[in-house]
Amino acid sequence: MANEHEHCVAQAWEDTPPRVLDKLRFHIFLCTDGKDFCGCEANGNAALSGALRQELAKRRLMASVKVNIMQCRQPGTAGPVFVVHPDGVWYSGLKAENVPEFIEQHVLGGKPVERFLLRDLKPVTAVPAHIVEAADCCAEKLTPEQQAEALATAATR
Ligand code: FES
Repeated sequence: MANEHEHCVAQAWEDTPPRVLDKLRFHIFLCTDGKDFCGCEANGNAALSGALRQELAKRRLMASVKVNIMQCRQPGTAGPVFVVHPDGVWYSGLKAENVPEFIEQHVLGGKPVERFLLRDLKPVTAVPAHIVEAADCCAEKLTPEQQAEALATAATR
């Protein structure tokens, strides 16, 4: 895990009753930061986003894999950067043409595509606010049931 928030997000998923996650298996956050601090845009994040959604739809996986956007989380990385939760697996450099392989191997097979893994992961300064909010990890104010409900709601945004 990259930092304490990464751990908490993963923990929130682990604590989520199976009934909540029956449909949602993976939540992907793809850097589509318009400012393109790194190289995500230049390296095809828009095409990747489109290909991911298209392939998921083609395989009828939209209910089990959600794709959301995030801002720059890995400054100085070539990209396109995305992270797959609940595993907290970070990718960089995977292009639109690699999406079928990613779906087959990671989403359906459970094995990350090694050659595109982001090895020199920098400290993640922030994770999407609604996920932190949903996990409410640091304050530990929510019961596991409340966490599950909040997480399920966040996942539908
Ligand atoms: S612009 Fe995408 S990780 Fe920085």
